[in-house]
Amino acid sequence: MPGLTAFAGGTHSTEAARERRLCFFMITVTRFFGGRRISASCRRFLRNLAQMGVAWTISAPLALAVETAPDSIELRVRACTVCHGPEGRAAPDGYYPRIAGKPAGYLFQQLLSFRDGRRRYAPMTHLLDTLPDIYLLEMARHFAALDLPYPPPRPASASSALLERGRELVTRGDPAHDVPACNQCHGEALTGFAPAVPGLLGLPRDYLNAQLGAWRSGQRRAFAPDCMAQIAGRLSPQDIGAVAAWLSSQPLPPDTKAVRSLVRKPPMECGSFTVTEPATGR
Ligand code: HEC
Ligand code: HEC
Repeated sequence: MPGLTAFAGGTHSTEAARERRLCFFMITVTRFFGGRRISASCRRFLRNLAQMGVAWTISAPLALAVETAPDSIELRVRACTVCHGPEGRAAPDGYYPRIAGKPAGYLFQQLLSFRDGRRRYAPMTHLLDTLPDIYLLEMARHFAALDLPYPPPRPASASSALLERGRELVTRGDPAHDVPACNQCHGEALTGFAPAVPGLLGLPRDYLNAQLGAWRSGQRRAFAPDCMAQIAGRLSPQDIGAVAAWLSSQPLPPDTKAVRSLVRKPPMECGSFTVTEPATGR
């Protein structure tokens, strides 16, 4: 049953079996008390059941009821997946960045930045501009908690000299121009440093180019001191092209999670390191 396998999430089958039992328990409670407190995974399960025609008489009305429940994180993030791909796992082609599995603090800060004008992309600002911090935090946590496999990178189409320059900058930096190695902050394996520094693998080349260019031109800003603006300012346009070409052609390591500590002390201060999550409200 493909739907159920998807629900089971591959290797986590014992956990899924537990959740299924809990889900059936909730269905029973819901049927008797008319409540709508059904978890996201349970809702997915119900939809799968309905799609497969299993236990139709039980699942269809319930799936419909939860589908039309007025406000849930599932509904709130549905608009996002139109561009960021199903479950926020956009592939390394095209322009949309993957958001699934990025550190929660980083995602939250980006949502604040789009809403408050430190980053510019009109459709996203439009979606977010009336939302309070707490909603943004909930969406950030939702996408951060997803642990989904990455597709393989696109094969590199740049010259080997350019790729070598990219690798050099990312792993060793360029001391002559005061450029630190990227993996000093983004994690040795470039999978990010939780909670505020994102990984650099699995992103489209065009997206990487555009973000570094936007920092150089002041179109993208992070909290001060904005270390990335300083670093991007020290990279020539050719160097930006080189890191984007190299990074976008690298496969993810087996453990894709952001690290919790760095091997070396960050070479610069970044305002993003100190931003805290709000307790409630805007
Ligand atoms: C119309 C398409 C579209 C929709 C809808 C959309 N996004 Fe985006 N999103 C983008 C694009 C394009 C970017 C990159 C913009 C840029 O150039 O800075 C982006 C960037 C982001 C980033 C920053 C990613 C990073 O690595 O820095 C986050 C986080 C994000 N979006 C979350 C969301 C969430 C949450 C929603 C739903 C509320 C959403 N997006 C809806 C297109 C979209
Ligand atoms: C001193 C620490 C530090 C170093 C060194 C560093 N970065 Fe960053 N980088 C950050 C932080 C912090 C952020 C998140 C900024 C924000 O909140 O918007 C970031 C974000 C980024 C992003 C945005 C990713 C996305 O999903 O939008 C890119 C691209 C990036 N860095 C590339 C690089 C490259 C390339 C290098 C090496 C030349 C580098 N960084 C070196 C701290 C660092």
